[in-house]
Amino acid sequence: MAFFDWDDKLSTGIPVIDEQHMKLVSFVNQLHEAMLQRKGKEVLGGIIDGLAKYTVYHFATEEKAFAAHGYDGAPGHVKAHKALLQRVEEIALKHARGELTVTSETLNFLIDWVGTHIMKEDKLYVPFLKDKPIEE
Ligand SMILES: [Fe+2]
Repeated sequence: MAFFDWDDKLSTGIPVIDEQHMKLVSFVNQLHEAMLQRKGKEVLGGIIDGLAKYTVYHFATEEKAFAAHGYDGAPGHVKAHKALLQRVEEIALKHARGELTVTSETLNFLIDWVGTHIMKEDKLYVPFLKDKPIEE
């Protein structure tokens, strides 16, 4: 059983978005697995950087869709993206500097981070975007 199980409650019903969210979840699971296997700093750092980079990509997909379809909740959502990205980049930086070791606390934080993004913010745009084309 994965550490962070994909749950139908996390589904937006928008395939492109769900696929990307599953990928975010999978980064958290990879990090958990690597931590259990006591992988070194480079392996863990690589996964954290992968998560940060994929987050940039995912947020860009959402923001392009907001712009393409004129979503009026965009300003608040984009602001929330910036704050979320800053938090994950901070983890990546602290880890690279040796100021942070990956613990279950870090992982729980990331689960909450991904979960909050999907459940609180993304669910708001679902009624507006669900029938519109979304480009990656
Ligand atoms: Fe999202």
